[in-house]
Amino acid sequence: MFAHKFERRLLSQRKAGLFRDPPLLDGRNGKHVYVDGAKVLNLSSNDYLGLGSSQKVNEIVAQNFLKFGSSASSSRLVSANHKVIHQAESAFAEYFGYDECVFFPSGYQANLAVVSTFFDQEDRVFFDKHIHASSVTGLKAGQCQFSGFKHNNLAHLEKRLEKSGRDTTAVLTESLFSMDGDILDVAEFKRLKARHGFLSVIDEAHAFGALGPGGQGIGKDAADIAPGTLGKAMGLFGAFVLMPKGLKSYLFNFASPLIYSTSLPAAHAASALEILKIVEESEDRRERLQKNSRYLRDRLAEAGFQVAGDAHILAVEIGEETKTYRISRRLLERGMFVFSARYPTVPQGRAILRLSMTAMHDEKDIRFFVEQLKEICEHEFLQ
Ligand SMILES: Cc1ncc(COP(=O)(O)O)c(C=O)c1O
Repeated sequence: MFAHKFERRLLSQRKAGLFRDPPLLDGRNGKHVYVDGAKVLNLSSNDYLGLGSSQKVNEIVAQNFLKFGSSASSSRLVSANHKVIHQAESAFAEYFGYDECVFFPSGYQANLAVVSTFFDQEDRVFFDKHIHASSVTGLKAGQCQFSGFKHNNLAHLEKRLEKSGRDTTAVLTESLFSMDGDILDVAEFKRLKARHGFLSVIDEAHAFGALGPGGQGIGKDAADIAPGTLGKAMGLFGAFVLMPKGLKSYLFNFASPLIYSTSLPAAHAASALEILKIVEESEDRRERLQKNSRYLRDRLAEAGFQVAGDAHILAVEIGEETKTYRISRRLLERGMFVFSARYPTVPQGRAILRLSMTAMHDEKDIRFFVEQLKEICEHEFLQ
């Protein structure tokens, strides 16, 4: 019975052009990945600064695992509350300018914990309709009353706030959106916060490490709580949540995803601590990242593509799902790895090629990619 149901769902997924079958990789080296023995330029990696591909970071991580062991072997609340994790959390809180910090095994888990733990039946939460799936799952799990506002439309948010009139209101958004690549108007968001007095959660997963002085992100002025991930610009995996005083203890007492899951290993926290120093000193990488991103955006616009994105995440709008998927497959055949983001990752009928730039790319890579994309679209898809 279940087998039949699963088959039916997969078939309709296929028919709608939404089937997921990511290419199998043989390996990865800097800005390249290997697919079926072929070397392919990766335009879909969130290793924005190139740290995850650097020998230095890989050695740091290897040495820390030798020193601290491979696993935490229990939850933080059982026998894995290692001092080095607290040290790393304090260093992160201080570096990013918050009172407290808690590490999580992943950003997904962090958002699930934050949203489902801090907000419950008594609270009303407004969320940007394009926030990450992990926060949406957290909203459903926490049973708060929630409603969306139009993506990055703060005038619409204000209308919602004016109607709400409740005391315990919170707003969830992102500083740099993961698919659209656009940036929150932090000054306007701060004004709304001052006027309406809500608690703000600004997910900086794609900004920490990559944007702002020292990679300190861009939302600090307006964020009470800021989840970040170690798996993107920081070149590791795992996540952290930055918060005001007292909330760490609240998570330790009430956050089910933290309490009932094996902790991030101590080796991992020790590595994050060392990587933070490298992030601080990576201004040259951040400049290269910005320069590459601007160059890619300009070349795409010049070639006639509809391109969105204010920083290192760029979205080329294609629309139809099957077509978007097929373009990404053609690109792969020509040696370029590009993610086709389709529903439900993006709204239905609004599929995109989601490009992420890194400090490892150069102008030659970018020109090659844009030329190939143009050729594919013009000759094979008659744009
Ligand atoms: C905005 C945003 N938040 C959270 C996450 C989850 O982070 P992680 O990959 O560490 O689970 C992601 C990404 O994948 C993301 O794009």
